[in-house]
Amino acid sequence: MNAPLIEVTDVGKTYGSVIALRDVSTVVNSGEVTCVLGDNGAGKSTLIKILAGVHRHDAGEFRVDGDPVRFDSPRDALDRGIATVYQDLAVVPLMSVWRNFFLGSEPTIGFGPLRLLDRKRGKEITRNALARMGIDLRDVEQPVGTLSGGERQCVAIARAVHFGAKVLILDEPTAALGVKQAGVVLKYVAQARDRGLGVVLITHNPHHAYPVGDRFLLLKRGAPLGSYEKSEIDLAELTRQMAGGTELEALEHELRTAET
Ligand SMILES: Nc1ncnc2c1ncn2[C@@H]1O[C@H](COP(=O)(O)OP(=O)(O)O)[C@@H](O)[C@H]1O
Ligand SMILES: [Mg+2]
Repeated sequence: MNAPLIEVTDVGKTYGSVIALRDVSTVVNSGEVTCVLGDNGAGKSTLIKILAGVHRHDAGEFRVDGDPVRFDSPRDALDRGIATVYQDLAVVPLMSVWRNFFLGSEPTIGFGPLRLLDRKRGKEITRNALARMGIDLRDVEQPVGTLSGGERQCVAIARAVHFGAKVLILDEPTAALGVKQAGVVLKYVAQARDRGLGVVLITHNPHHAYPVGDRFLLLKRGAPLGSYEKSEIDLAELTRQMAGGTELEALEHELRTAET
């Protein structure tokens, strides 16, 4: 059996005296979506920053293709085929869609000091890559700033797929979106999965996670609250688990204020 693309075992991370994450285990397989769910402060971003090479774990084990790793930078993660799309996309709003798609790795004509940007080919590659993902953008020359939040997420996903990512990490890609746009982004998540990528989808919305997810890791205040394969849990139960924590907290708070 092939090793999972990513496997974390009892991973932990502290920031000074703050335990941001502890004892977290999960896997990411090719052609599957691993969802990480939890409220604010649950440790979701900390976990993906470890996977993306932004932070290093200080407990447990992190394996890529079976090899124990400890990344020094996001570049190291990228070199292992792990691409991350952050919520606040690092795109240049005034730059055209196709230039954003390449961001420094544009195709050129000629060589040496006579090299010229091959605009025609660059635009064509972008248009085709987007079309392969089912994204129909008539004008790839339009500034990225004119795209909706959902469309930008889609371009970023298509970009990661085009440049050969094996693992795609998405930090709350649907959080700021309306129902319809969120649906569109989830469709591209499913497409990336169907093209064989392993996807890590971070969200606090079980309704976004459930339809595309293969496994669900629930975090709360940095600790695992539960970890389920899709066959082990239904949407109602996943929603209940997600809501349970906050409801209890609210109740606790109410009781405490009632006492005083
Ligand atoms: N750079 C940091 N320095 C200190 N504490 C941090 C840092 N990043 C996150 N934390 C803390 O770690 C915990 C988990 O945060 P985070 O991973 O951002 O959660 P989430 O993404 O689920 O909202 C929180 O208590 C947060 O305050
Ligand atoms: Mg976060």
